[in-house]
Amino acid sequence: MGTKTIGERGQIQLCIGAGAATFKAVALASKLRQEGFAVRVAMGRAALEFVQPLSFEAVCGVPVVTSSTSMDADGYASHLRAGESRALVILPATADLMGKVAHGLADDAPSLAALCAPDIKLFCPAMNNHMWANSFVQENVLRLEKAGWERLGPVEGMLGEGYEGVGRMVEPEAILAQVLALCP
Ligand SMILES: Cc1cc2nc3c(=O)[nH]c(=O)nc-3n(C[C@H](O)[C@H](O)[C@H](O)COP(=O)(O)O)c2cc1C
Repeated sequence: MGTKTIGERGQIQLCIGAGAATFKAVALASKLRQEGFAVRVAMGRAALEFVQPLSFEAVCGVPVVTSSTSMDADGYASHLRAGESRALVILPATADLMGKVAHGLADDAPSLAALCAPDIKLFCPAMNNHMWANSFVQENVLRLEKAGWERLGPVEGMLGEGYEGVGRMVEPEAILAQVLALCP
């Protein structure tokens, strides 16, 4: 395997939700960059309580976008760059973040970036099993799928609450494999 140059495979936009699985998004960002993608990251206020932006910045090499009113250093509105990505991934796709995107709301950086998503767009739900079974959550999942979003997971396994159930996010390796399949 030859050395890969950062960005030679284009850009991937990550929209980070706020949950027990948020830390796993750092691993995905790192793996994507090692595969030669430039990685952009958008985080909302709640996600910042789970993981510091510096964790992403350390593996992505670019500032994390943390506000829906952010401008890039070159004066370009940050969220519009999401549309220039080869793929956009929401992870963990929380009930709240899915609900916003499914209804066209854009009051924070990840939901706004998601509204600008390119054709290849994935979401990786992660939540408590009771939340996952909630009918409003399921309606929002269907709305996203009907709008062309590809869903990965959730799977059955150990939840943050300490018991087994359906709601666990797919592992970063599985998300990476799907991104590589869609963006060779
Ligand atoms: C410890 C903890 C873990 C949480 N885990 C999840 C989760 O896995 N999935 C989820 O949908 N919400 C979870 N929540 C609730 C979200 O953090 C909350 O709804 C938040 O507003 C979502 O913000 P977002 O839209 O930026 O993702 C959790 C909350 C706490 C306090």
